[in-house]
Amino acid sequence: ESIMKLLEERIKKDGIVLPGNVLKVDSFLNHQIDPELSKAMGEEFARLFGDAGIDRVLTVEASGIAIGVMTALTLHVPLVFARKKKSALINEPIYTHRVFSYTKKEYSDILVLQKFLPAGENVLIIDDFLANGEAALGLAKLVEEAGSKVAGIGIAIEKAFQPGHQRLLDKGYRLESLASIASLDNGKVRFTAED
Ligand code: G4P
Ligand code: NA
Ligand code: NA
Repeated sequence: ESIMKLLEERIKKDGIVLPGNVLKVDSFLNHQIDPELSKAMGEEFARLFGDAGIDRVLTVEASGIAIGVMTALTLHVPLVFARKKKSALINEPIYTHRVFSYTKKEYSDILVLQKFLPAGENVLIIDDFLANGEAALGLAKLVEEAGSKVAGIGIAIEKAFQPGHQRLLDKGYRLESLASIASLDNGKVRFTAED
């Protein structure tokens, strides 16, 4: 069975639809993590972007790290995760971008040390959710500011009815989502493929 089908089935079984079009998946992705499922997702991203000459995987803490590291492991490249708070320990040059979280209704600054985002690379961006696309677009900005190329964006679960999917395509990015949700209306998960 394909990882896409496995992920859909897991979402149907364990996902909880909350008010405000939020899908809670903390039993396997956002709090407790299913390592087997994360591994399979990472292997699928590595396969999908296997022709892109990926030099590095970039995600954002916290929930992107598990699938990001599995992707990077399979591709034999480093994983870097953007941090959300400026640590007092960081006194080296950084790339930073302000992103607005629609879900949390707050701004946060994501940052990466410049030395972990060298110029001239093909960078694969991985994240757990795509909603409005703010996180993915912010990560892409860091890559481009560093003088590297966004070789692709891999998302575990996209809410295709929210603006992020189209915003990333409009910018010309190659987007691969493992599960694509068409609607969460009436507390029910409907996938794009079922349309
Ligand atoms: P955006 O990046 O696509 O614009 O999304 P948004 O700002 O709305 O998302 C803020 C946070 O909420 C992100 O996690 C994002 O992954 C997550 N998120 C968005 N929609 C959903 C959803 O329907 N279900 C779940 N479970 N998460 C959603 P984060 O703040 O980076 O948190 P984390 O990585 O520490 O988990
Ligand atoms: Na998240
Ligand atoms: Na995330």
